[in-house]
Amino acid sequence: MSFQSVRKLVEMDIKDKKVLIRVDINVPIQDGLVGDITRVERIIPSLQTIIDKGGHPIIISHLGRPKGKRLEELSLIHLVKPLENLLGKPVQFQPEININDCSAVELYSKSVTLLENVRYYPGESTNDPDFVNLLARWGDIYCNDAFSASHRSHASIVGLASKLPACAGKLLEVEINNIDDILGSDVGPLTAIIGGAKISTKLTLLANLTQKVDNLLVGGAMANTILLAQGHDIGNSLVEKDYLDTALDFLQEADENACKVYLPSDFQIAPDIRHANSQIAEIDDSIGGMGIYDLGPKSIIRFAKILDQSKKVVWNGPLGAFEFAPFDHSTIQLGTTLAERTKEGRAVSLIGGGDTIAALAKGDLLDSMSFVSTAGGAFIEYMEGKELPGIKALQS
Ligand code: 3PG
Repeated sequence: MSFQSVRKLVEMDIKDKKVLIRVDINVPIQDGLVGDITRVERIIPSLQTIIDKGGHPIIISHLGRPKGKRLEELSLIHLVKPLENLLGKPVQFQPEININDCSAVELYSKSVTLLENVRYYPGESTNDPDFVNLLARWGDIYCNDAFSASHRSHASIVGLASKLPACAGKLLEVEINNIDDILGSDVGPLTAIIGGAKISTKLTLLANLTQKVDNLLVGGAMANTILLAQGHDIGNSLVEKDYLDTALDFLQEADENACKVYLPSDFQIAPDIRHANSQIAEIDDSIGGMGIYDLGPKSIIRFAKILDQSKKVVWNGPLGAFEFAPFDHSTIQLGTTLAERTKEGRAVSLIGGGDTIAALAKGDLLDSMSFVSTAGGAFIEYMEGKELPGIKALQS
């Protein structure tokens, strides 16, 4: 069964039903205040659909990784106000999921209910059948709207899907359609920009992409490992020396799949990451005791030219140490090129991953992209070609 044939929220008869909707409102919280609210905004269409169709949303989410413990700072009570503001109606907070009093369940089912952090309970991460039964008592229908948590085989993601009549929420649908559209279509050239610190965490992703994309632009410290494997001097840059052979194997694989890999050919180097006075070094220069922290100007121009020829672009991972200026330069510069192409309708752009979003947000570029995924780990695993347990559970 393909995802397209999974029942969707809009197709369900939910009048007067309690819809147990698993969302991902795992957002940054500082002193009880929500930082970036994007993940909360993105679940509103599904919640509104349930309300409009006469159903009662009972919201389940995790926040952080409390590992079965009740940690005050990870309480979902902090999300009540943001949800109320976005929905324009009251949200009842239910601090205890494990209650026996079914009349209370009935009471809460009359409005929008937010259950406490599901990861306060050890049975969530072990997908414990007793905990699944306990959760299932809260609803008549289960809806998964948490693409970004669907790589977890947890009770509220996998267990509930086989316990209650299940469907896919609107955000889950949009996330999957966007990735499938970009990786599955014949319209090219298709380019992937992959950055980040460690090649070891993205090997499967790179391998899968070589089969799908025409161009692969590689930056970030993961490019250092490939450059060192090719015999270049990378000074004291971040590198994974255990992966030199693997890096060469990846280049070979890309070659066999006619996927062109572009690596930086000049760099911003500095004695350390906090050193604002960087210098430019060419690929054949001796870097000595310095480290590579971003792409140099020639590499930015080369990468931009590829983006200029691309019809579709998928991006995961910053190209430099973006947290420390001026090493955010290449990410923002190339983000600007992509944003302009997208706005002009000349390219479709898909962005995913927490660091990539944070880096492009620094340049105020996110609104110009075609689609920004709310997912981190799930985005990468889906692009690796893996079957996400949460999606599989909906399909069976
Ligand atoms: C995320 O932030 O990527 C999701 O909320 C999943 O969180 P997790 O990695 O703690 O499962």
